Amino acid sequence: MRILFVCLGNICRSPTAEAVLRHKLRELGLEAAIEVDSAGTGDWHVGKPPDSRTRQAAQLRGYDLCALRGRQVSVSDFSRFDLILAMDNSNLEHLQRLRPGGSTAELDLFLRRYDLALDEVPDPYYGGDEGFEQVLDLLEQACDGLLRELRVQP
Ligand code: 4NP
Repeated sequence: MRILFVCLGNICRSPTAEAVLRHKLRELGLEAAIEVDSAGTGDWHVGKPPDSRTRQAAQLRGYDLCALRGRQVSVSDFSRFDLILAMDNSNLEHLQRLRPGGSTAELDLFLRRYDLALDEVPDPYYGGDEGFEQVLDLLEQACDGLLRELRVQP
């Protein structure tokens, strides 16, 4: 199973989702069984580490994003991954346009798939610290939903 998280810049929401899911998989002893990655629809932050506010908020909850670097989503991701999960509707629309014919990768909106209170993970980039906490709250819940779907967590 190979899962890709996608947001706009790949420095706030999708790297957080990647780190949270990796952390939960490690706790379950499943890190080797499920491949996790993240990417952005934009190319502004390619090669850059995650946003410092994202790293700091995540660190306080025990998630380490230091090794992650930004990359842009590409057509080849539709054959490299089984499930591609977008953070908001704009990311999803971008992915639907990029998706090559005959692609077998499943594409969905992450929070909607797991029936959370919001459909989209709000972009925290231009907001205050509380936005980064909200991103973590939503992504922790959605990752639990994903683990239940994969039948690896009750
Ligand atoms: P992300 O947040 O999509 O969650 O990584 C953003 C990061 C950077 C920008 C926008 C959103 N930006 O405009 O540079």
